[in-house]
Amino acid sequence: MSTLKTEVERRRAFAIIAHPDAGKTTLTEKLLLYGGAIHLAGHVRARKDRKSTKSDFMALEQERGISVSTAALQFEYDGMVMNLLDTPGHQDFSEDTYRTLMAVDSAIMLIDASRGVEPQTIKLFKICRERNLPITTFINKMDMPALEAFELLDNVEKVLGISAVPLVWPMGSGRDFKGYFDLYEKKLHRFERTVGGAYKAPEAVGGIESDEVRNLMGDTAHDKFCEDVLIASDALPAFDKEKFLQGTMTPVFFGSAVTNFGVEHLLSHLKELAPAPRPILLDNGDIIEPSDNRFTGFVFKMQANMNKLHRDRVAFVRITSGKFERGMSVSVPRLDKDVKLANPVAFFGQERTTIDTAYAGDIIGIISPGLYRLGDVLYERVSGADKAPEFHPLPRFAPDVYARIVLTDTSKAKQFRKGISELADEGVVQLFNVADASPLIGVIGQLQFEVFKYRIEDEYGAPIRLEPLPFECSRWISPSDASKAGRFDKIVSDEKGNPVLLFESQFRLRSFQEQNPDVELHLHPTY
Ligand code: G4P
Repeated sequence: MSTLKTEVERRRAFAIIAHPDAGKTTLTEKLLLYGGAIHLAGHVRARKDRKSTKSDFMALEQERGISVSTAALQFEYDGMVMNLLDTPGHQDFSEDTYRTLMAVDSAIMLIDASRGVEPQTIKLFKICRERNLPITTFINKMDMPALEAFELLDNVEKVLGISAVPLVWPMGSGRDFKGYFDLYEKKLHRFERTVGGAYKAPEAVGGIESDEVRNLMGDTAHDKFCEDVLIASDALPAFDKEKFLQGTMTPVFFGSAVTNFGVEHLLSHLKELAPAPRPILLDNGDIIEPSDNRFTGFVFKMQANMNKLHRDRVAFVRITSGKFERGMSVSVPRLDKDVKLANPVAFFGQERTTIDTAYAGDIIGIISPGLYRLGDVLYERVSGADKAPEFHPLPRFAPDVYARIVLTDTSKAKQFRKGISELADEGVVQLFNVADASPLIGVIGQLQFEVFKYRIEDEYGAPIRLEPLPFECSRWISPSDASKAGRFDKIVSDEKGNPVLLFESQFRLRSFQEQNPDVELHLHPTY
């Protein structure tokens, strides 16, 4: 019989972090293939005119070949329930990504074997480190000309400052990539390619010294392979699970998502070593244990209009403890009321299914017409005196690009207001001076402007013009300091009425600091 504890312990919530083009979409699809959630990989990709996986659902993403939305995909693997959260790969979406990484218990860092660590990998890695997330490294595209394995390990260690310990050693690279040697089980895994990597790759497990392997590789390559395996086994530090769980050591796999080499091994590693839902330390010092009976969770993502036919909004909730049952009532402290979760859903691309039960570690989508906000806490009130858990607020960042939004068809004012407020709730943009006829928006990267304009016109039918503003950075300040803005700075107010100072340049920001040493500038809102 399944108990709450066993259900929680068989859950894994993780995300893939990668620089664009490293193969995140491909690996996602292959994880689904090995998890049995899809039976033929490549069926989406085969349509060469668009680039998407089941987790990409915005027309804009498909047109531009980028992934801007975050979805959670659930699949079972060998008795485990895997929750894979899709992190947007584009650098302009760091805030959304940040929130997603708040909702997982570990991450897979995907690296292109010919490129090593790339800029976006570094950014995402830093976020994981801030949260002490355990990180598993998968060095992808070994079927293409690749950097030397030792060089790649060195690159990860030097650039990211994390100890990188190989769990397997690649057998050749490029066209000669045939598999890898498991350095712990001491077994050679040889794979065969399937056409287009559509099906699971047949795999043979054996020893390293056989004549068959020597013949397959050729004498010189085989000698080098055996020598490298010896060095990797004896000279490199051993894998230490504790260090991995603390986020200071990363186990490294070598593989090829496109040919499916190493995908199953990665999944079994997630099963054996990646953490189940972790306890959460609250701001008041309390700890939420995932297997506590009481249901708690928080909204880490909002998305409007996931299905245009439905015109609804979905709040994605990461369950942090307990069991969820359809129809249960939970308290939402911000609203100061109890709500019934009658219609929870899971998404698989465009398809949605109703969820009856879910456990800590799972993600549920709650459909509602604008009830929830990012960061909302949901909890089950077992007794009247139960207090709301004080989660650390989801971070907001000071935007560095600003624009004024001008509605170009004033008959659409109602749609415009609804659109800006809903998209701000989703965290697509931050809204300032909201009461003005032409409010301001701020974003972390330019591409978000395009997403915002596209969505407000496409989903709300409100045509707009964006007038770029000459500000490069901003800081939250206390209301009493608002009068200290200089001639070059502008004071605006955020959605909650807090004053924010906009600066035309980093230089101007620094000189403001020098002139006003008593004014505290905050990168995040202080409420
Ligand atoms: P992303 O989501 O991280 O941006 O990467 P994506 O999976 O879209 O992969 C980017 C490109 O790299 C794709 O090629 C994909 O086929 C290829 N790729 C992914 N994994 C591997 C691998 O293990 N080996 C090799 N050789 N290639 C890999 P594309 O030409 O852009 O698209 P497509 O025409 O192949 O679909």
